[in-house]
Amino acid sequence: MTKVAKHTTAQVTSADSEFYLPADAFFRANLPTALTFDDVSLATLYSEILPKDADTSTFLSDALRLQIPVISSDMDTVTESRMAIAMALNGGLGLIHYNMPAREQVKEVARVKRHIHGLIQDPITVAPDALIGDVLKLIESKRFSFSTFPVVDGAGILVGLLSGNVVKDRYKTKKVADVMTPRAQLITEKESAVAKDPIKASDAFFTRHVGINKMLVVDAAGRLRGLVTSSDVEKITAEAKSRRKPSRDSQFRLVVGAALSPVRKPDGSLDHEKILEHVEHLVSEHVDAIAVSTAHGHTAGVGDVVKLVRGAFPELTLIAGNVTSASGVAFLADCGANAIKIGQGPGSICTTRIVAGVGIPQLTALHVASHAAKLKNVKLIADGGITKSGDIVKALTLSDAVILGGLLAGCREAPGEIMEISGKVYKQYRGMGSLSAMKAGSAARYGHDKNDQTRKVAAEGIEALKEVSGSVDDVLGILIGGVQSGMGYLGASTLPELRSKARYIRVSPAGQKEAAPHDVIEVSTRTNSS
Ligand code: XMP
Repeated sequence: MTKVAKHTTAQVTSADSEFYLPADAFFRANLPTALTFDDVSLATLYSEILPKDADTSTFLSDALRLQIPVISSDMDTVTESRMAIAMALNGGLGLIHYNMPAREQVKEVARVKRHIHGLIQDPITVAPDALIGDVLKLIESKRFSFSTFPVVDGAGILVGLLSGNVVKDRYKTKKVADVMTPRAQLITEKESAVAKDPIKASDAFFTRHVGINKMLVVDAAGRLRGLVTSSDVEKITAEAKSRRKPSRDSQFRLVVGAALSPVRKPDGSLDHEKILEHVEHLVSEHVDAIAVSTAHGHTAGVGDVVKLVRGAFPELTLIAGNVTSASGVAFLADCGANAIKIGQGPGSICTTRIVAGVGIPQLTALHVASHAAKLKNVKLIADGGITKSGDIVKALTLSDAVILGGLLAGCREAPGEIMEISGKVYKQYRGMGSLSAMKAGSAARYGHDKNDQTRKVAAEGIEALKEVSGSVDDVLGILIGGVQSGMGYLGASTLPELRSKARYIRVSPAGQKEAAPHDVIEVSTRTNSS
C-alpha cells in the first residue's frame, strides 16, 4: 500500500518537472527564440505563504536596501524630486533624470533627502527683512509642500519662526520680521541634547510641550542647527509599526538616486573633471545611488565613467547600463558597478529595435544576463517593457528589481502638465531618445551630441501621452499587491526564494488570449478617488 503511494507521488512530481522547467532548462529549450513577458507563464507551487506576508525587500548593493523592488525611471517625464519622494515613501527608489542643469539636479536630490528626516540639518529658512510675497514666490518656485519657516539673520542666528498661518496672499506686502513669532517666545532645544537620537529627543519634546509642532535646534551661540517637525516624528514612529516601510538611509533620510550624464569635452573625450565634480556635489547631498544610464552600456565610454566614479567613490552604490548580454554584465561589473540595468528596446516609448535593429526580448535578456550576475556577484535591474504586475513577478524571477517608466508617467507625481483631450486627462511621456528629449540634454545617452547640427540624429524614442493614473501610492499599491500574489502562488516568502522556485511554461497566442478577460463585457467599478 505504502509502496504504491510512494510510486504515485514520484510520478506526479516527475510530470511537473517534465513540463514546468526551471529557468536554464526552459530558456535553452526555447532557443533560438528569445522570449518576453507575455510569452511565458509561471507554474504555481505548494504554498504556505499568504500574499500579505511575502517580503518584497531587495538589495541593489550591500549598502542600499529597498523595501519594494521598484525604481522609477530616470526620464524627464517620470522622475524629479516629487516622484522620488513618493517612490521612497512607498519603499522604492527614484532616479532623478539629468535633462536639467547639473546644479538643479543636485537641488532635486537635496529636496528628497530633506523631505522627512529625523533632524533636518539644513532647513529652508527665510530672512527677517523678506516680504511675505517673496516667501510665497519661493514656495511656488521650489514647489515646497510646507509654509512654516525658521527666520535667521545673516549670521545664521535664529530670530523667529514664520508660521504658515501668515504666509498668505493678503499679507504679501508685510515684512517677515513684523509677522513672525519672535525668538523670545520660541521654545527651542539645544543641539547637544538631540544629537544622539533626534527622534527620541523630539518625541519627548513634543510630549512635554503640548501644541508645539516644530522643534528648533540651536547651538550655544543661538545659531539654527536643525528642525524636527512633530508630523515627521509621528510618521517615523508609525512606520516602525506599519508593514510597508519607506526606504531610508541610516540617518532616517529618504533614499534617492541620480542619473549621471557622461559629459564630453568638445574634442569628444570624457570630461573627467566635470563628471567627478558633479558626483562630488551629489554625494555631499547624500545621494544613495548614481546611475550611469545609456542605451549601450557595453562600451569603452560607459566603462570609463563607471571606473572613474568607482575609483573616486569606493562606497557609492553604482548602477550602470543598459546591456542585454552576459559579457556586458561582466564588463560593467569589472568596471565597478553594483547593479546592472538590463533592457535594450523593450520600453513602451522605445524604437531602438526598429531604428537600429538591435535588442533582445526582455526575459531571455534577463536570463542570459543572470549567468554573469551570479558569477560576478552583482544585482540585475529589469528596465523597460513592464505593463502589468504579472510582468514584474516574471522579471523578478530573474532579477533583483525593476525600473518603471510608462506605468508611473501618468501619476500626478510625475513631472509635466496635465492636459485634457475630449474629456480625458493625459500627461506627456516621451522617450529619452526622442528628438525633443535629446535636444533637452539626453543626446549623450544615445551617443549623440545635442549641439551637433550638422548630422541628422536618428531618434530612438517617441513622444507620447499617458492617461492620468492617480497617485504613486495607488499605482504601487496595486502593483505590489500583484507581486505579493505571485509570491504567494509560488510559495515564496522572499524574492530570492521566488527566483529559486520559478518554473516556466511557454504560452501560445491562444494561451495569451485565455490569460486576459475574454468573452465578457467588462464593467468598470473604479471609484473616483484618483
Ligand atoms: P517603460 O516600458 O517602462 O520603459 O515605459 C522605460 C524605459 O525605457 C528606456 N527608454 C528608452 N529606450 N528609446 C529607447 O530605446 C528611448 O527613447 C527611451 N527612453 C527611455 C529606459 O531604459 C526606461 O527606463
